[in-house]
Amino acid sequence: MLTTIKVLHNKHILLGVTGGIAAYKAAMVCSQLVQAGALVDVVMTEAAQKFVAPLTFQALAHRPVYSDMFAIPPGQNIPHIALADAADLLVIAPATAHTLAKLANGLADDLLSAIALATPAPLLLAPAMETDMWRHPATQANMEKLRAWGASVVGPAEGRLASGAMGQGRMVEPEEIIGAVRVALGRRGDLAGWRVVVTAGGTREAIDPVRFIGNHSSGKMGYAVAIAARDRGAAVTLITTAALPDPFGVEVIHLDSAEQMLAAVLEATRQADLLVMAAAVADFRPKSVAEQKIKKKGDSEGVTLELGRNPDILAEVAAQKMAGYGPQHTVGFAAETEDLLANARGKLERKKLDLIVANDVSANDAGFAVDTNRVTLLFKDGQSEALPLLSKVEVAEIILDHVKR
Ligand code: PMT
Repeated sequence: MLTTIKVLHNKHILLGVTGGIAAYKAAMVCSQLVQAGALVDVVMTEAAQKFVAPLTFQALAHRPVYSDMFAIPPGQNIPHIALADAADLLVIAPATAHTLAKLANGLADDLLSAIALATPAPLLLAPAMETDMWRHPATQANMEKLRAWGASVVGPAEGRLASGAMGQGRMVEPEEIIGAVRVALGRRGDLAGWRVVVTAGGTREAIDPVRFIGNHSSGKMGYAVAIAARDRGAAVTLITTAALPDPFGVEVIHLDSAEQMLAAVLEATRQADLLVMAAAVADFRPKSVAEQKIKKKGDSEGVTLELGRNPDILAEVAAQKMAGYGPQHTVGFAAETEDLLANARGKLERKKLDLIVANDVSANDAGFAVDTNRVTLLFKDGQSEALPLLSKVEVAEIILDHVKR
């Protein structure tokens, strides 16, 4: 279940639906956009109405559905101009080969194609068709033209097609379209032009080929920061150990250990504007990793693991900055179970951070693996700000507000 999403809130989205079986998935796109706070006007072609009834979209969007270029409500402007002018984004999902051909040739023989020609809003296309139609030189030339004119394109994906065949041409899933909508709307956000690196999840330090030392970090906090930065126009690299879905439009690097994370962070932050270290990095790792699974010896004999120190990633980043390269701004998190503020302040200073986000991970509704967090922001000038219990998404937005300021 989606809650209101800042980049979508009160945005006018025109959702164009054309005639393909994937039109049924456009209903889910409509529903998710509305739940996330967008104002969705649906425009259907004649062919689309053979697959899904306009009433479906009307019920989901709580707004009229448009299809007739010549149905002008009394006292109102002609629909294709009024809708085109009001739109923040035109999304066509599914976009058939026929519609793409019309758009690439500037045809305007129905309401949707007339809007596409008339609107100053950015255009996002989610093509859907059989593989041969997608691969046809005519369709590929049309796509090239539309891309060159500035259209964003999401998909098509590989998978089962309407004919029952497997291949490329399937419309991407609604979640991916929502991700692409957020990227398209955020393009001119306040972090446009920024390069942001975020870490997420708990590192896993191998004991043997099947066991590791880990922690309870789910990655939720880091993913919330990465997605918020992406929604505000940043180019984001997410370095993660978590198994959450890769956010659309974000470069994602999956890894396990602190040592791997150190190498990835140093590489990704050489030219970055901002590093946010939300990952829970293990301070210790087994000194040696057994080549084979460690076997039990006898019934009661235990095993002693000798642990050595892991590198401190933020300290290494600070050293890189001293050498003249590295992120402009660095934000750390402090996961504490006692003396929250004093410990966090110490880490802020030792790790040479601009901001540390202190969270008490012993609380049930904050810290590890929940959707909420209760944090205090500590700044390097000695100021601090205690925030109430908020969703991790809200915490992420506030952190970015401060960094931007
Ligand atoms: O992932 P979730 O389930 O959403 O949970 C979120 C969270 C609780 C993991 C997150 O909010 C959080 O607190 N992350 C930091 C956890 C942590 O490692 O804290 P620390 O106090 O041990 O480390 C302080 C800072 O130094 C952190 O930014 C950490 O990433 C960094 N660090 C730590 C150890 C190390 N060897 N190198 C580091 O760079």
